Amino acid sequence: MPIIEVDHVNKVFKTSVRREGRFGTFISLFSPVTRQVTAVEDISFTIEKGESVAYLGPNGAGKSTTIKMLTGILEPSGGNILVGGGKPHRNRIHNSYQIGVVFGQRSQLLFDLPVRDSYEMLRYMYGIPHAHYRKNLSEFAAVLEVEQLLDRPVRTLSLGQRMRCEILAALLHEPDILFLDEPTIGLDVIAKERIRSFIEQINREKQVTILLTTHDLDDIERLCSRLMIIDKGNLIYDGSLGYIREHFATERRIRMVMPDPAAATVTAARFEGNADFRVSVQEQMIEITYDHRQIDTSELLRTLLSTCNPRDLAMQDENIEALIRRIYQDGINAVHQQPPRTAGGIR
Ligand SMILES: Nc1ncnc2c1ncn2[C@@H]1O[C@H](COP(=O)(O)OP(=O)(O)O)[C@@H](O)[C@H]1O
Ligand SMILES: [Mg+2]
Repeated sequence: MPIIEVDHVNKVFKTSVRREGRFGTFISLFSPVTRQVTAVEDISFTIEKGESVAYLGPNGAGKSTTIKMLTGILEPSGGNILVGGGKPHRNRIHNSYQIGVVFGQRSQLLFDLPVRDSYEMLRYMYGIPHAHYRKNLSEFAAVLEVEQLLDRPVRTLSLGQRMRCEILAALLHEPDILFLDEPTIGLDVIAKERIRSFIEQINREKQVTILLTTHDLDDIERLCSRLMIIDKGNLIYDGSLGYIREHFATERRIRMVMPDPAAATVTAARFEGNADFRVSVQEQMIEITYDHRQIDTSELLRTLLSTCNPRDLAMQDENIEALIRRIYQDGINAVHQQPPRTAGGIR
């Protein structure tokens, strides 16, 4: 049985709008005008125990709303959610024992108190046995390198330090599932890397199920074998990053180092007038960009290697970050592949 089941879930927010004019507030009191915002339109997915899933989408797509429903903070307007077999909003206390939550933009630590005091409070709230608490705290604090921070007031920590302490807080009670909503937002490269390697470790060693929203593709590449992309409250992709790269990344780039600048110019000339390629030359380096749906890559490589004698040759995929942005903008169908065509007769 999946540990998370989301079945045709929908969430509509009703907000009251204040009327214009001098007596607007007063009139609104008696005849309120409500506006509806559909944050999640119709989303279904299941997640198995031990999976590590990235939940992506542009701002306002409905990611945080989904996580709030999964954690029981919000109730769905329609559809069904089961987390560990129970409905999160119906039994928030039971649900809170099986999940840990980290919101990058919000803290569950007490700002003015030492970090350790918040942990003590969580120990008490969850009724964590002392032995477990001590073991978890010392183990996680060592891996996250926060031992030196435990007696410092939270407000004196840097964002990266605080984030590591937040993640520790979310795991003290040994939850089966960890929800992370933009945990690496605003962090520097080193802080991000520390957090990634910790999340990777608890997923691998303790089989903690991970659902992560992020804008950082390195997070996904490192942590998530599966990614779901939502847009305007609907799931538009559910699969691997590799599949996206293979099937939706349309551009390929070949970079060749030629023996000398003259050879590079000669090679570039062979592409002249061919609209299937974009070619640029810089001294003895030549760069050829094409759409791999139009051009058969292996045939092109054979031709280049046998007729141009490059000294070195490297291939690059389209920047995956740009690609995902394009999927956000144009939708998955617009960037979907057609079968490759020809070798694109270069001279
Ligand atoms: N409490 C709320 N009341 C009204 N609208 C909301 C509320 N929370 C979120 N929304 C709206 O729902 C949509 C989805 O928001 P959210 O789930 O936060 O998106 P994301 O996390 O993907 O950026 C947005 O249009 C947002 O303005
Ligand atoms: Mg959000």
